[in-house]
Amino acid sequence: MCTSSSSISFTRTKSVFEHVNPFLPKPAEEHRPYVIAHRGISAKAPENTLASFALATAAKGIDMVELDVRLTKDEEVIVLHDRTLQRTTTGNGVARNYTLNELKNYDAGSWFDPSFKAERIPTLLEVLQLVGSTRWIDIEIKADPFRADRRGFLEEKVIRMVDECGMKDRVFYSSFDHHLIANVKRMKPEAVTGVLYNLLRDFGRPPSKLARRANASVFICGKGELQRSMIEDARKNGIAVYVYTLNSINDAQKMIQLGVDGIISDNADDIVSLVKRTR
Ligand code: G3P
Ligand code: MG
Repeated sequence: MCTSSSSISFTRTKSVFEHVNPFLPKPAEEHRPYVIAHRGISAKAPENTLASFALATAAKGIDMVELDVRLTKDEEVIVLHDRTLQRTTTGNGVARNYTLNELKNYDAGSWFDPSFKAERIPTLLEVLQLVGSTRWIDIEIKADPFRADRRGFLEEKVIRMVDECGMKDRVFYSSFDHHLIANVKRMKPEAVTGVLYNLLRDFGRPPSKLARRANASVFICGKGELQRSMIEDARKNGIAVYVYTLNSINDAQKMIQLGVDGIISDNADDIVSLVKRTR
């Protein structure tokens, strides 16, 4: 499946994977957080498009690329943040109501800038092929509460695709839906996983508890949600902490001082230079 629509090969090259394990909290004395490109370099190209991911793979020093996955009507895996099309494409309505072929007619770039009008909603496969062995990939699986009948299908399909692409040791699975994340771990015990914090639902529960319940090793939250006590709890329990979305040097600096393990940013290419200086 992996090579069917592309000539790109997945030969393992010397890359970040040879020496980085982004899923463990780093010892305080060598604290340099990992830099994660949120929906690609989404400050400079339309989010979750091949253009955005190409910028992230071209920029030096970025450790990981984050993206969001969903299913189409014909159950293909696409990379799209919103449940609906109108914010980031020329389409309208729920993405799940369209086949992949239908979705490919929509322009996914003009909303950002007319120069990106050729961008289309990519499939996960297209992004895996583009990023290849150059970066880790954080696949955020978006749950579809309206399709309980297909529960488990998306995660199973994603895991299979990642395996077939030979990328299982380069991928990290995350979700706001912790049942889904526990499910990933059941299907693929060696998968590395993270739980996203939902303030309303998870308030008061320590990161280690949330992560352990889903058998995850990373805790991810918004910059306004993170408390020092949460970092302390995670560190004590061997859970890494990633924070989003840190787009200013000031925000990133604050989080570096707090000791986070991963910085998720829309302009990860700019944040990288700051993080490197703090090494
Ligand atoms: O993984 C961090 C972030 O992507 C989670 O929120 O809404 O941007 O997918 P969202
Ligand atoms: Mg996301």
